[in-house]
Amino acid sequence: MSPAAAPRYRILFAASEAWPLIKTGGLADVAGALPVALKARHHDIRLLLPAYPQARATLEKPRPAGHFTLGGYAVELVRGRLPGTPVPVWLVGCPALFERPGNPYLGPDGLPWPDNAQRFALFDRVIAHLVGTASPWRWQADMLHLHDWQTGLVPALLHGQTTRPACVFTIHNLAYQGRFGYSTFATLGLAEDLWTHEGLEFHGDMAFIKGGLAFADRLNTVSPGYAREIMTPDFGYGLDGLLRHRKARLSGILNGIDTRAWNPAHDPHIASPYNARRLGDKTANKTALQRALGLKVDADALLAGNVGRMVEQKGIDLLCETLPAMMERGIQLVVLGSGEARFEERLQYLARQYPGQVAVRIGYNEALAHRIEAGSDLFLMPSRFEPCGLNQLYSLRYGTLPLVHRVGGLADTVIEKGDKATDNGFVFDAPHGEALLAALDRALALWAKPTAWRRRQRNAMRADHSWRHSAMEYETLYARALADRQAEQSAMELARRGKTVLAPQTV
Ligand code: ADP
Ligand code: GLC
Repeated sequence: MSPAAAPRYRILFAASEAWPLIKTGGLADVAGALPVALKARHHDIRLLLPAYPQARATLEKPRPAGHFTLGGYAVELVRGRLPGTPVPVWLVGCPALFERPGNPYLGPDGLPWPDNAQRFALFDRVIAHLVGTASPWRWQADMLHLHDWQTGLVPALLHGQTTRPACVFTIHNLAYQGRFGYSTFATLGLAEDLWTHEGLEFHGDMAFIKGGLAFADRLNTVSPGYAREIMTPDFGYGLDGLLRHRKARLSGILNGIDTRAWNPAHDPHIASPYNARRLGDKTANKTALQRALGLKVDADALLAGNVGRMVEQKGIDLLCETLPAMMERGIQLVVLGSGEARFEERLQYLARQYPGQVAVRIGYNEALAHRIEAGSDLFLMPSRFEPCGLNQLYSLRYGTLPLVHRVGGLADTVIEKGDKATDNGFVFDAPHGEALLAALDRALALWAKPTAWRRRQRNAMRADHSWRHSAMEYETLYARALADRQAEQSAMELARRGKTVLAPQTV
């Protein structure tokens, strides 16, 4: 198809976070970058987020864009642009629900806001309202792209409507499901017939995510590997049966990365820019990092980094468990992150045991995350499951060899097959300390051969993980969702005229 003939979609892209407006994890990276890539491919896209104070304050050129009442709440819309991009953003304001500082999901006590069900149910109702017949917009979306449980009710709210956009639901992490008791369900004013096993009911609770999984035209996850894994009981969190049932509608599309924000040749956060031809300049970043964090300044010591949420998913317990054995091998380690107090405390304790060899920083620090990517030799990701993972992709681009558990998106992007021409990291099979340490020993053996290490770094840096390719895959997914939607609409139309039709076959 010639570029001129390619379909242009009107896409409403709704998520609960998007960088740089607000970010807690990789979802924000995706929601802040994929719309930019789609806009660059001439789609007419609008990004929709709740109006958290931080998002309002960061929005470029904000201006009021109407107000209405929905479900008893006064809602105001604010429009603007995603900073530094041409992507239009619409924020959903509701002072009672979103006007709170800090984390979008957790209160200052580290626990979920007690009214999260009401907060995201309202957000979802607003989304459904904006694509419905009573929408205050003159702009009519033909594609609705939703992400994770916070937007899961939308396909359920739109289900059965004769005019609605096609709907794609992206699963970034099946472990977060938006589960609430029946008493909460009863307060949300949802149709009672959604309280079924085929609807939102899940083991006596409601699960927001089920709305997306059961009713979206197409489902996808953020890597082909995770798409396969979630159809098994080991990774399905009880939803594998439903996902197998919808197998024909489920696919995996690997995330891209924002290659402008994550570029070692032009990274304002790092001490010394470098590229694959000037890898020697990477050492200055290592020295700067060692100095800044109080590690022994030593170019020969293998410096391993880790950045992320300190939760079991990320295998942070494996890291703690193997840390003393790593130290015996003479490597250095820097860890940045925050999460469960037990992991934060354990890592801080271990850092005190190994002064000059281990540095731990608790908190969220974007500049330091860039410095760790640039200054480390190795990047540890022993995740128990990983839908995609972005840090291994940043690491590849920064020539910082990822050492990963063979799971989900990590298995799809990091290669260690014993082929000098393609290997770009280190991969271990079982989420156990021994397997991790065996991979570390392989890394140390390669570290002792600088030419071979350089070759692997160059292999890593050669990979193209820009969003362009993934954006094209999303276009194909949108086309499929639209075809499914049209088939459903024709079937509904025939049924309305009193005829029956066989369910369409989907591929
Ligand atoms: P997840 O979304 O499961 O947390 P990802 O690897 O997809 O994992 O994305 C995490 C994103 O959040 C990356 O961009 C990573 O650099 C960033 N990040 C996580 N923790 C921190 C932190 N403490 N400081 C800075 N950036 C962080
Ligand atoms: C989730 C996953 C992570 C993925 C990110 C963005 O938070 O845990 O693996 O990279 O979403 O899709």
